[in-house]
Amino acid sequence: MSRFSRITGTGSYLPPRRLTNADLTTELAAKGVETSDEWIIERTGIRARHFADPGVCVSDLALQACQRALEAAGRDAGEIDLIIVATSTPDMVFPSAACILQSKLGNVGAAAFDAQAVCSGFIYALTLADSLIKTGTATKALVIGAEVFSRILDFSDRTTCVLFGDGAGAVVLEASDVPGILATDIHADGQYSSILCVPGHVSGGQVTGSPMLTMDGQAVFKLAVGVLEDTARAVLEKAGKTQADIDWLIPHQANIRIMQNTAKKLKLAPEKMIVTVDQHGNTSAASIPLALDVAVRSGKVQKGDTLLLEGVGGGFTWGAVLVDY
Ligand code: UT7
Repeated sequence: MSRFSRITGTGSYLPPRRLTNADLTTELAAKGVETSDEWIIERTGIRARHFADPGVCVSDLALQACQRALEAAGRDAGEIDLIIVATSTPDMVFPSAACILQSKLGNVGAAAFDAQAVCSGFIYALTLADSLIKTGTATKALVIGAEVFSRILDFSDRTTCVLFGDGAGAVVLEASDVPGILATDIHADGQYSSILCVPGHVSGGQVTGSPMLTMDGQAVFKLAVGVLEDTARAVLEKAGKTQADIDWLIPHQANIRIMQNTAKKLKLAPEKMIVTVDQHGNTSAASIPLALDVAVRSGKVQKGDTLLLEGVGGGFTWGAVLVDY
């Protein structure tokens, strides 16, 4: 009998501190940084984002999301044998956020590691977990996207600091006789590593280079719209499906214009796309599982729906996962 993987529960968590564009604009103005609600909405679709308080780490946000996903799946943390955290903002250089999370969950023994593919991280992590379940290495996985991007934002750079937010989303992925993950597709092109990066590193007890995010927004935008269409078509072809089979497009929530462009290229009605970028901003690896959980809990996504998840980000990385939910 073939072995597949299925999502059996979703959960998410946003830190309580919410800043509207007006709140952020006021804070930035006090530092002499000029932006506006109109500019942010028109160029990105973002209206608000959440920031974690000082001392709150990725593993803390991930823990809350995991507890909700476990409850939805009707599972205890002790039943989980694989934990993958997709993040670019882990608690420490090492050990992984996944190991710290494992300890907070009270689960001893499950394999635990981080996957770092920036905004495509959740797509990479879900692909890995699917493979490890299919080969019998794991049976029940927690796959998480969690970020505290507020920690790596330069609040004197208006071209980036208005775009990102903090949060976490998680799914429980379990072995199944029937397919849930229908197809996966992941790629990278390291030649573009400098267009979206945090170039600093720790060396000799000091941070060498900038520890803040820098981005060539237009270069990212142009690359993103091309590769997102390609990877969407690739997973559909691998699964023997067409655009007409997609019930919901759940894209990485970076910019509403990129998301609408992808939907248009796939000839999907705008109502078939889950949008949370307006309320969450860009939460990098957390954005797709956050949007999925919001869609599930709002009743939009129903059991049996076909979901196209896709992401793009620093690396340059991109990919998609087609899901029978
Ligand atoms: O998750 C990883 C993936 N990341 C992305 O997907 C980001 C992709 N890129 C984008 O979303 C867009 O390129 C941005 C939203 C980052 C920028 O939008 P844009 O339409 O490409 O704007 P732009 O960079 O061409 O800037 C237009 C103008 C510039 O002024 P001038 O030179 O025309 O006078 C900027 O200085 O907007 C100015 N500007 C701002 N003005 C007010 C840039 N940031 C701001 C700001 N507020 N926050």
